[in-house]
Amino acid sequence: MGLPAVFNLIILISSFSGLCHAYDYKTYFYRQKVDHFSFTNDDIFIQRYLISDAHWNGNNGPIFFYAGNEGDITLFADNTGFVWDTAPEFKALVVFAEHRYYGVSLPYGSKSFSEPKYSGYLTSEQALADYAELLTYLKRVIPGAKDSPVVVFGGSYGGMLAAWFRMKYPHIVQGAIAASAPILQFTGVTPCDKFGKVVTADFARESNECVEVIRKSWSALNTVTADDEGKAWLSNSWKLCDPLKSEKNITDFKDYLSNVWTNLAMVDYPYPANFLAPLPAYPIKVVCSHLTDSSKDQRALLEELNAGLQVYYNYTGEAKCLNFNEQADVRLDDNGWNVQTCNEMVMPFCYDGIHDFFEPAAWNYTAFEDECHKNYGLTPQPFMVSLMYGGRNINASSNIVFSNGLLDPWSSGGVMWNVSDTVVSVIIPEGAHHLDLRSADPQDPQSVKNARTLEKLHIRRWIENYHIQQHSLNGI
Ligand SMILES: *[C@@H]1O[C@H](CO)[C@@H](O)[C@H](O)[C@H]1NC(C)=O
Ligand SMILES: *[C@@H]1O[C@H](CO)[C@@H](O)[C@H](O)[C@H]1NC(C)=O
Ligand SMILES: *[C@@H]1O[C@H](CO)[C@@H](O)[C@H](O)[C@H]1NC(C)=O
Ligand SMILES: *[C@@H]1O[C@H](CO)[C@@H](O)[C@H](O)[C@H]1NC(C)=O
Ligand SMILES: *[C@@H]1O[C@H](CO)[C@@H](O)[C@H](O)[C@H]1NC(C)=O
Repeated sequence: MGLPAVFNLIILISSFSGLCHAYDYKTYFYRQKVDHFSFTNDDIFIQRYLISDAHWNGNNGPIFFYAGNEGDITLFADNTGFVWDTAPEFKALVVFAEHRYYGVSLPYGSKSFSEPKYSGYLTSEQALADYAELLTYLKRVIPGAKDSPVVVFGGSYGGMLAAWFRMKYPHIVQGAIAASAPILQFTGVTPCDKFGKVVTADFARESNECVEVIRKSWSALNTVTADDEGKAWLSNSWKLCDPLKSEKNITDFKDYLSNVWTNLAMVDYPYPANFLAPLPAYPIKVVCSHLTDSSKDQRALLEELNAGLQVYYNYTGEAKCLNFNEQADVRLDDNGWNVQTCNEMVMPFCYDGIHDFFEPAAWNYTAFEDECHKNYGLTPQPFMVSLMYGGRNINASSNIVFSNGLLDPWSSGGVMWNVSDTVVSVIIPEGAHHLDLRSADPQDPQSVKNARTLEKLHIRRWIENYHIQQHSLNGI
């Protein structure tokens, strides 16, 4: 058996709509320090960032800063409509900064992930220091930005960075919108089974039969593929691009299915969106319309499962075959995120097949650590994130809005309570993964409109308070 599926946050990025809004920005590069902390490494790398001053009030108007996460920054710029939608109202300068080790911002080029000597600078602490330095530089060199308040935005891991940026650098960032930010999805903070339960609940909203079909599919797959005839049957019946041959193929195949069900939960958006392939509105409802009878024999059950799966990868009807090894998005590079999970971002997941519909898989930290040694020469630090950022003890911080959609499995590690007057949590019952960060859509549920209104209220407050403070500082 392989490791329990570790849901890579990389998957999250691909949950963005592929609809391309042609947002207008200019691309720049900053000569950034590789190491902000040790005084022993003077290397620099070229960090990419994007700027739009189309609506900017050049007299200390606010800076809206997107804290890039694990992917090419243009992907986030194209898919974070909320920042673009709100910038005109606030006359904000828009900046999207690329996270080190992603996109074109590779400190050591193609060697970046090869050994700890090069990959060791891929941490959230270094990334936040990059952002702090970049903002300080921009405020110095852009005329009229010297006294600009900064609002940081981020979704998913970017949302974690946004929240942590405000916590660690409150003198640089006046407030943070942290959307679908699972800052609590760590060892000893959130039980490992919570995530899978949310995925399952999304399917249970449609029907119990749907959940039962998926729950029973794992043993059906194991039994049917136990011999060569069964492997061949499944490969033909499902039109796999490459037939199932080995144990490893079957493990990969099941991981693919787990990922699909999880992705669907993340992108269960109220309107059609373009993922790997185009998806209908509320895709889980459509998938479940095919998964209606769990009492069928195993092969019939698997045929039914395939009909549901087709909604995900063959909605256009154009897929010639099913490739269970396909990459979610060519602009993504999982090397970076894999390194991060092997240093700080250790997120335990486990499934029991009873309270969730996944194949049972315990969280085996030893096995996880072994893989990290083998693949990257790294020893994970499972408690580091909580040590650095506080776990649940975040009420000494201020000016953060956490938003979470209840359809989004990552809400399992989200901040779901109002921490204080200025660290607030907004819940979007009909929301999937950072729905609020996407651009406004006529089919948005009222709850996401309310969330955006609350977010804007807080942004306005942060900006006003900043100017009042600056005013009194300057008066001294
Ligand atoms: C199936 O497994 C074999 C042997 O491990 C491997 O060579 C092949 O690439 C795998 N096929 C797919 C589609 O992953
Ligand atoms: C995709 O859908 C079309 C139309 O329903 C079908 O003809 C085709 O066989 C499907 N592809 C796969 C790989 O099942
Ligand atoms: C966890 O993984 C290690 C290393 O692969 C293995 O030796 C051990 O038996 C596993 N533990 C459990 C409880 O499965
Ligand atoms: C912060 O949280 C702790 C633990 O929940 C609580 O005891 C304390 O009263 C809180 N402090 C404030 C200022 O809310
Ligand atoms: C937090 O407070 C806001 C009002 O400021 C409210 O709208 C929201 O529902 C509260 N969040 C939670 C999780 O109770």
